[in-house]
Parts: sequence; C-alpha cells; structure tokens
Amino acid sequence: MMQFDRVTVAKEGRTILSEISLDLPEHRIGVIGNNGSGKSTFLRLFNGLERPTSGRVRYKGEDKTDLRQHVGFVFQNPDNQIVFPMVDEDLAFGLKARKLSKPEIKTRIDAVLTELSLTHLRERLTHQLSGGEKQMVALAGVLITRPDLIVFDEPTTLLDLRNKLRFMSVLDALPHPAVVVSHDLDLLAGFDRILHIEDGHIIADGVPDVVIPAYIARSTC
Ligand SMILES: Nc1ncnc2c1ncn2[C@@H]1O[C@H](COP(=O)(O)OP(=O)(O)OP(=O)(O)O)[C@@H](O)[C@H]1O
Ligand SMILES: [Mg+2]
Repeated sequence: MMQFDRVTVAKEGRTILSEISLDLPEHRIGVIGNNGSGKSTFLRLFNGLERPTSGRVRYKGEDKTDLRQHVGFVFQNPDNQIVFPMVDEDLAFGLKARKLSKPEIKTRIDAVLTELSLTHLRERLTHQLSGGEKQMVALAGVLITRPDLIVFDEPTTLLDLRNKLRFMSVLDALPHPAVVVSHDLDLLAGFDRILHIEDGHIIADGVPDVVIPAYIARSTC
C-alpha cells in the first residue's frame, strides 16, 4: 500500500533516515530499533507529518499531498491527540472538519464506541480518563475518520497488562492494515513482517521469528 523510494530525512545537517526503499503491502508490520534510531521519524512519513528531504513516499503508487486523509496516526501519548473536554465532542471534532452532518456524526460516534466497547465513556470528561481509557479514545478518534491504514507509535507504553491485552485483541480484530512501532516485542510476535531500524537504516527486514531474536541478540551482546 505504501512505498518508499530512496527516502532520506535530514535535520540540522544530520541524516536521520538514509535512503530507505521499501514496498509495504503486508497487513501487520512492526518496527523495532534502539532509542533514537529513527522509528518515529519513519512513521511520521506515512501520514505526511514528516516530509522526505529527498526521495519519494507513494501511497498506492501515487504521490499524495493529503496523506492524512488516508492514514490515521495513533500517538504514544494520547494527551497529544485528545483536545476536547468531553469524549463525544473530541470524537466529533475530526468529522466536523470533514463537514459531515450532525446525524452522520452521531451515527459514527455510536458505531465506533460500540466497536471498541467504550459506550460508557461517551459523556465522560477526557482529562479524567485513565491512561488506558485515553489510549482507547485516541484510537476511536482515529478510527472514526475511516482511514485506509493506521500507524501506531508505541501504543502500549502507558497501558497496564489488562489494557495491553485488550488493545492487542482490538488491534487483532481491526480490518485496517497497520504499522506499529514498539519496544514491546510480544506485541509484534504475530505480525507479518518486522523492520529493524538502526541509525536510520533498515538493517533487518523479515518475519518476526527471524528478525526479533537477532535484534535481542544484538542488544544483549
Ligand atoms: N527536529 C529534529 N532536529 C534534529 N534532530 C532530530 C529532530 N527530530 C528527531 N531528531 C533526531 O533524530 C533521531 C531519530 O529520532 P526518532 O524520534 O525518529 O527516534 P526513535 O527511533 O523513534 O526513538 P525512541 O525509541 O526513543 O522513540 C534522534 O537522534 C533524534 O534526536
Ligand atoms: Mg520514537
């Protein structure tokens, strides 16, 4: 779905990602690597939050100027994503911007809250939610815009075990293709493909059973 063609990102004279070329048709793609290796920068290229310094990012074979219409981004910290005081207002926000009618907005809010088993949170104050509840509301805020593809940057770091397991089952059931950056290797074990980034280069690319043990061995030696 997403293609990278010799994509380089440089900032302040430093190369952060170096000539990345990838074709990414898989349903579940995980991204691993040390702190500062370039994972979040890589992920931001997917929805245009970051632009290549050189090279091209293509979506379904085309250069798109409006990647945000197609690609949803779930941040590590839901506080960066939730802006309105009430859950239902926050969910409506992205849809009002898209000029949907009031009844259509209500229908979509009902549907997404039901899908994620969050109907009890509809009229809650967002700043009073727990970290896990906020993370689920942030995911609802992305799903409600009906993206074709969703990228997640360390989605489980704030979650306790129960919420992490719940998040994993929600992710499992989502029909959307997803790219997930995570230091939580359990989360990625069942994925179709893992990319290991080091110093802005993809140094390994393959199935989890091969790439993850090699990453662990490299980190522990
Ligand atoms: N605006 C910027 N200007 C200069 N350097 C930057 C900028 N943004 C990111 N970097 C640097 O780029 C490198 C990659 O950052 P990035 O956030 O992509 O890493 P990461 O792999 O997501 O790390 P982590 O696992 O800690 O989240 C880091 O060394 C970071 O300091
Ligand atoms: Mg990061």
